[in-house]
Amino acid sequence: MTTCLVVGAHGRTGSRVVDELVQAGHAVTGLVRRGEHVADLHDAGAHGIVLDLATSSTDDLQRAVDEVEAVVYTAGSSSGATAETVTQIDGAAIIRTVDAAVLAGAERFVLVSAHRADEDFGGDHVVRLLRAKRAADAHLRATALAWTIIRPDALTEGRPTGRVRLGTTVPQGALPRADLARLIRLALEAPPPPCGSSSNSPAGRRRSRSPSTRSDTADHHHAPSHPHRASSTSAGNRIDHLR
Ligand SMILES: NC(=O)c1ccc[n+]([C@@H]2O[C@H](COP(=O)([O-])OP(=O)(O)OC[C@H]3O[C@@H](n4cnc5c(N)ncnc54)[C@H](OP(=O)(O)O)[C@@H]3O)[C@@H](O)[C@H]2O)c1
Repeated sequence: MTTCLVVGAHGRTGSRVVDELVQAGHAVTGLVRRGEHVADLHDAGAHGIVLDLATSSTDDLQRAVDEVEAVVYTAGSSSGATAETVTQIDGAAIIRTVDAAVLAGAERFVLVSAHRADEDFGGDHVVRLLRAKRAADAHLRATALAWTIIRPDALTEGRPTGRVRLGTTVPQGALPRADLARLIRLALEAPPPPCGSSSNSPAGRRRSRSPSTRSDTADHHHAPSHPHRASSTSAGNRIDHLR
């Protein structure tokens, strides 16, 4: 059992991730921005924390991440969002959450990014979104957390297929959020990467983020192994690394 914080837990992806993780026996806390959404988390078998990512500090987020082993970030600005909201929710708030996870001693971080986030294309809104996601992805990659960055194309409400195409470059294509939620669970449940510490104690986890460990893991990027068990097919999502 892993203790997890799901950020954006009332969203269309986040709520599915909460269900998926709870049903698999993990201890889940959901971060939501509206107090009235906490009851839904309780109904799903999770705890709730109310925090507005746009105004929360790293300290606020560190308190939310405290005692958590894994963080899943599924929050995102909506399509009609202002430039400032995009920059915050798809960029700066992710960076603060990553920093909070490191400071609080979390082990894993799964981040939902966006397909082709390394490119600039589309109108101003899309370019702003992609740049924010790109910067956040880079920030997470530079940490010694065991991170997974998933870069899906269009997400849908479609029925789960149990099949997901993974790769560093994959064609465009839709991905049901239910499949994404399962992929996220599998990423969290994958065996921990070799990182110089076999201890499962909190102290051991903190030691695993020593500078020597960081250089060890940073040099060993490899394709995700465990998520492949759920995968192959039609969906146009892309996963960078599971270390
Ligand atoms: N939609 C797509 O096709 C697509 C494609 C590629 C990548 N993605 C990425 O995939 C992730 C999930 O997308 P989705 O469409 O499933 O998400 P969604 O349904 O739009 O949910 C986003 C969640 O983020 C929360 N949120 C927004 N601003 C917040 C704030 N200031 N404080 C706290 N929470 C806040 C929202 O809270 P409220 O419930 O209070 O509004 C909502 O629950 C996002 O990171 C998105 O960028 C989406």
